[in-house]
Amino acid sequence: MRRLPQALARADTLDASIQKTVAHESAYKQVTGRAQYLDDIPEPPDMLHLATVGAAQACALIENIELDAARCAPGVVDIITQADIPGSPDVSPVFHGDLLLAGECVDYVGQPVVAIAATTLEAARRACAQVKVRYRAQQPRLTVQEALNQKDLVLPSQTLRCGDVDTAIANADHQLRGDIYLRGQEHFYLEGQISIAVPNEDGGVRVYSSSQHPAEVQKLVAQVLAVPVHRVQAEVRRMGGAFGGKESQAAALACMAAVFAVRNQRPVKYRMPRRDDMTQTGKRHDFWNQYRVGFDTNGVIRGVEMDLAALCGHSADLSDGVVDRAMFHADNAYFYPAARISGHRCRTNTVSNTAFRGFGGPQGMVAAEAMLDDIARALGADPLDVRKRNLYRGNRNTTPYGQTLDEELLPLIEQLEQTADYRNRRQQIRAFNASSTRIKKGVALTPVKFGISFTSKHLNQAGALLHIYADGSIHVSHGGTEMGQGLHTKIAQIVARGFGVDLARVHVAATATDQVPNASPTAASAGTDLNGMAALNAVNTLKQRLLEHAAETYRADIEQIGIRDDQCWIGERAIPFNELVKGAYLARVSLSATGFYRTPGIGYDRAAARGRPFLYFATGAAASEVEVDLYTGEYRVTRVDILHDVGDSLNPAIDLGQVEGGFVQGMGWLTSEELLWNERGQILSDSPANYKIPTAGDVPEVFNVDFFNRSHLAGKADEETVFRSKAVGEPPLMLAISVWCALRDACASLANYRFSPPLGVPATPEQVYFCARAAKDFAEAQS
Ligand code: MTE
Ligand code: HPA
Ligand code: MOS
Repeated sequence: MRRLPQALARADTLDASIQKTVAHESAYKQVTGRAQYLDDIPEPPDMLHLATVGAAQACALIENIELDAARCAPGVVDIITQADIPGSPDVSPVFHGDLLLAGECVDYVGQPVVAIAATTLEAARRACAQVKVRYRAQQPRLTVQEALNQKDLVLPSQTLRCGDVDTAIANADHQLRGDIYLRGQEHFYLEGQISIAVPNEDGGVRVYSSSQHPAEVQKLVAQVLAVPVHRVQAEVRRMGGAFGGKESQAAALACMAAVFAVRNQRPVKYRMPRRDDMTQTGKRHDFWNQYRVGFDTNGVIRGVEMDLAALCGHSADLSDGVVDRAMFHADNAYFYPAARISGHRCRTNTVSNTAFRGFGGPQGMVAAEAMLDDIARALGADPLDVRKRNLYRGNRNTTPYGQTLDEELLPLIEQLEQTADYRNRRQQIRAFNASSTRIKKGVALTPVKFGISFTSKHLNQAGALLHIYADGSIHVSHGGTEMGQGLHTKIAQIVARGFGVDLARVHVAATATDQVPNASPTAASAGTDLNGMAALNAVNTLKQRLLEHAAETYRADIEQIGIRDDQCWIGERAIPFNELVKGAYLARVSLSATGFYRTPGIGYDRAAARGRPFLYFATGAAASEVEVDLYTGEYRVTRVDILHDVGDSLNPAIDLGQVEGGFVQGMGWLTSEELLWNERGQILSDSPANYKIPTAGDVPEVFNVDFFNRSHLAGKADEETVFRSKAVGEPPLMLAISVWCALRDACASLANYRFSPPLGVPATPEQVYFCARAAKDFAEAQS
């Protein structure tokens, strides 16, 4: 039995009413199967189902498409190619090049070329097999190295600079170089990509989408149909997981369904079977990271040069932001007095990679952590000591892009060092390894510092719409979407606390573009920060109206009136909230308001590569211990201790779920999830049978998660975030880097910790086996 997690035991002692562990608003519905996902909605009898013909070549001109056989196939109702799209075929989020259907050429294996609507999904799929496409094949480009050498980029490279890096490295006591290749990650949301489009009488549609970004779905559907945006509504009740995979790439499904819905004036469902989803939608970017570092005899860094090259696939999608974020996190938590950090967006003939929890941040951070380990090994120092010496501290607190940190990470690290018993365990592990020949243990303690805000400034805004009905019940709409992360639950809590009423009064509606316009995607972990503030802003407007009404009705000074515990208090006198609301309604007080929020104080000048892209940083640290079997490379994660700063948690149970889930998902990326393509550019890992995500059995045997108690601190985030909470969605994923470092640590023991053996990502047992071999070979060569 697992003990009550420390994070929750602690929560019971918190006093503020909001810091309550209430169940996720959909939890009971989800566990009883009553929570509706799009594929659960009963289908009208005339609904059409879609399937697409995917390109058989990674890089080719289309010479001919033969559709006759497919047209005659049973159940087929409609077939389209790019020429049949009434508006723009381009469904890109920011730039261009993401086509709903291919035009004259194809750019990756699986790219949709033809789409077929039929009476059943099965019929549509069968008909797809009847389509014959003739290609003139060209040589595809499949690797990031090739693209970098050829300077074939989807967008221009960027560089962050501070100090005189070449001199700093040259004058340092020691110099090192290294590189690491990180593979991508499939989102593997349990609910695959799906959209339903229902035509309306004005040539528009209402689309039900599993998307993190309904406003963009709405905009792109309008573009594809060539109608004004107001003819299209997009609605999202919930997603069965998204993890960034539905930030931009859910829109194509909605657009495809909408085109058929309007052409045929019938409802259309487009649900991708898992194999299509894994072939046709983008993943976390592979990165090839190279670094050069100069440091002194204590391991203190003097200068760092890094080149981060991302495998973007055939188009830009969100890669500009992803690579920016990788560059912003190539320091992780460490001060680089001089730095030159370049980011490259490489074009390849593969599916266009996209947002994935961390959004490039994890890929940048692994480079930093690998480098810190390399420095420690070169000096024969404990990696934790080298890490601590390089942490942002005192006036060494300016990032390579010029943002200064308000808070220090050292107190958090030192607390975890104690609670995880790092020093003793390090000694025990050394002793164990000295006598064990087959099994080697490793341990690592790594920090996370993750910037909170969208790096595109304009996205840092949110809206909310709030109604109080005459019975005293409260309806909230906001621009954020629910993907399992508990956003709606937190918003309901914020609204209840803002008013001073019971949580049961508050209902959060499905996200819809006709309720709140122009919303940003629910991403960058900022969902609660942004939408919570917007909702609170609307609450304050309505509360003020209610208080003014009460002051007038009960002839009291407004200062004497407050709403608490679901009652309106006028001095000693309590009036039930229902009664207050009913009175306000009868007095013709408007009980509906919008709320708005824009993040203050941020701004980044991309041309100068300087500024303050982030409102604040989310921080945490993890200590992981592993056991490696040298004969097979197999390993177990035996103990993990996490200390994470969620500010004043809005809901400790939900935050704990985010920390645990994020960590395990990060561990999957770094250890078991291996994406593979063949030499023709065809994906091989296209199903759960050949792509291994973590299971319950992979959760660490000992898994201690605690929240950092920061009541003694007065950082910026305290004043500027909703009820002093901190974003939690993405940062914990990067705590799993400690597992990767621990695996490398176990292997390094074979060379008496004086050699940093190469280990890629994912560190599959095979890779760990070779990593250990490299360490052994090094040791033998030395002796
Ligand atoms: N948690 C669950 N259960 N499912 C998800 O899809 N997505 C993650 C994170 N946690 C995700 C999740 C990602 S990528 C982000 S950006 C945040 O949730 C988004 O939600 P938030 O901003 O409300 O935290
Ligand atoms: N994070 C996540 N998603 C985004 C971002 C970001 O910084 N910018 C645009 N989409
Ligand atoms: Mo999360 S990758 O910002 O959707």
